[in-house]
Amino acid sequence: MDPGAFYYGADALCCEDLELARVAEEIGTPTYVYSRARILANFRSIAEPLSKLNGHACYSVKANSNLAILRLLAESGSGFDIVSGGELMRVLRAGAEPGRVVFSGVGKTNDEIDAALAAGVLMLNVESASELDVVESRARHRAMRAPVSIRINPDVEADTHPYISTGQAIHKFGVPKVDALELYWRAALSSHLEVRGVACHIGSQILDLDPFLRAADEVIALARDLRSEGIATEYLDLGGGFGIHYRDEHPFDFDRFFAGLERRLRNEGFRPLLEPGRSVVGDAGLLLVRVLYVKETESKRFIVVDGGMNDLLRPALYGSYHEILPLERRDGSRNTADVVGPLCETGDFLARDRLLPGFKSGDLLAVLDSGAYGFVLASNYNSRPKPAEVLIEGGKMRLIRRREVAEELMAAEL
Ligand code: LLP
Repeated sequence: MDPGAFYYGADALCCEDLELARVAEEIGTPTYVYSRARILANFRSIAEPLSKLNGHACYSVKANSNLAILRLLAESGSGFDIVSGGELMRVLRAGAEPGRVVFSGVGKTNDEIDAALAAGVLMLNVESASELDVVESRARHRAMRAPVSIRINPDVEADTHPYISTGQAIHKFGVPKVDALELYWRAALSSHLEVRGVACHIGSQILDLDPFLRAADEVIALARDLRSEGIATEYLDLGGGFGIHYRDEHPFDFDRFFAGLERRLRNEGFRPLLEPGRSVVGDAGLLLVRVLYVKETESKRFIVVDGGMNDLLRPALYGSYHEILPLERRDGSRNTADVVGPLCETGDFLARDRLLPGFKSGDLLAVLDSGAYGFVLASNYNSRPKPAEVLIEGGKMRLIRRREVAEELMAAEL
């Protein structure tokens, strides 16, 4: 069995060849820690089968946008899925090849569209008729053709948290299938637009294969219809959303997915793109925190740690489960406790009613599977500086984002 990115060597929790307690000693807490080897292994397990299908992976930057991680992926040939001018700036700084970047999102501004056109991205995944008009007019302004795909809403239901499900008719994302053909004709007839592909994305943390294959069928059917009408689409962007193991889930079955994709794409001539985020970085990261206080009342035990909802929002926002492990392995008795942060919100918890070993002030804990949507959702709520980030490579640690200091939080204020 794969031990994962983090494992107990003797009795100390390690990442690659390094004991994590050393990170806490040198860098302090709270700190995000990532395994370079794990990120690369996760990326390759998606990118390699895709390249056999003549496609490529566009890592979804929103999951974790640290420059060191983007550089690592760019060097490994990754394309990128971006959703803002800020993400565009990051991937360019990280050395991405613009021709492997797709720009998604329902609310692209003129400035963002201009920047993407100037950079020469592979395509803008357009999400509405009015956005298509704006992209066309920005391209006309630049006397060029803007490469576009239309993101269709395939109207498939996927079993995930309602906040991160995106592919049904009630969601704000994409264009209904029935309207897509008309938009493609508009694009095909414009001298400032160039049709490059068809796009979709149905949601996130989806474990079941069927909704992905049903969405792929919809995209392929539309691309075939377009081809029969003389509109060639080279790329089929099937989005991201592949679920990982947090608690007791079976992670997404990529082997079956790629087998299904291969069958569907055989002899079609289309090039598949995927936009994985969580499945590349999720299990490659953890949040290291230290116990400040243990507080017992008649009804509850609280373990108060130095990282909270401003550092890792997922438990508070989605009720998400993240495994919590002590840095020093503990056997013996366990008690039910809440692991809570220092912020002034009842929703500020990392775990609720969790069976955990006894802890005391000063103990170090690891909150697992925090590599995706961890640091990127961190805020300065309660005027708390954002945590540091560290990348582990073999036995070495590299600080890839220093801890913020409180003065910085006021720097932009007048
Ligand atoms: N492509 C598009 C167009 C997306 O909207 C997303 C995620 C992805 C790709 C990447 O999906 P992934 O492979 O990472 O599932 N904050 C939430 C997740 C929000 C996902 C938003 N869109 C969480 O913490 O679970």
